[in-house]
Amino acid sequence: MRFDIITIFPEMFGGFLGAGILGKAVAKGLLDIRIHDLRDQAEGRHRQVDDRPFGGGEGMVLMPGPVFQAVEAVRESAETPVILLSPQGRLFNSEMARDWAGRRQVVLICGRYEGVDERVGLRLASAEVSIGDYVLTGGEPAAMVVVDAVARFVPGVVGKAASVAHDSFAEGLLDCPHYTRPRVFRGEVVPDVLFSGDHARIERWRRRQALAKTLDRRPDLVGRRPPAAADRCAAATSRRLWRPSSPVIGRPARIEAACRRMTSW
Ligand code: ADE
Repeated sequence: MRFDIITIFPEMFGGFLGAGILGKAVAKGLLDIRIHDLRDQAEGRHRQVDDRPFGGGEGMVLMPGPVFQAVEAVRESAETPVILLSPQGRLFNSEMARDWAGRRQVVLICGRYEGVDERVGLRLASAEVSIGDYVLTGGEPAAMVVVDAVARFVPGVVGKAASVAHDSFAEGLLDCPHYTRPRVFRGEVVPDVLFSGDHARIERWRRRQALAKTLDRRPDLVGRRPPAAADRCAAATSRRLWRPSSPVIGRPARIEAACRRMTSW
């Protein structure tokens, strides 16, 4: 899969693309990530790509000309998603990541915090996307987040496909708790069920924990998905599994309340 990233700070991407799982995926040829300096499309000696906003106001705005030219120079087909990263965009999520991972190419335009000429969002980008309700100094860190999240869905990038399948959000729920050695750490013990050897029981426990954590921290996620019968049952039995002292699960009273609501569906 190919990413084309259009930025005025190409040097920001060096370390990000050279290390870790992404670095390996690039080395294996699973990902082809090309960084393009927007200033290469600029006219004039000063390589200017931004200008003052019409109507007055603070800061500079990226001009449409260089951005259109940069995208048109790299886009392979009219089907290629062209994503403008900006705080005004729709919130990025796992479904978008999964969808884009199935495409041959994705083009990412890194905006600047002052702004990008509106015609880029209107006529060039197929989507304007934000990674969260805060403002970054530019779209570059957001582009890295998007590349990373999309790449995980590209077959072969993450060693075990099963780990992607179980991750937070994969089924509309947060991930379950994970433990490793030692069995007791500063008085906190690993739940016994994980040593039972009973895989079906462990799976049920994980599901209930994921549900409890989601109800506690992100009830909005639970509300969006149809309540599977298995989850109603899990919610009903989860109360017994919460340990009030556990910093992982947090406020049991709120979970109790959410759980009661859920079982009355
Ligand atoms: N550029 C600045 N802030 C951003 C955000 N929250 N998401 C995406 N791009 C951005």
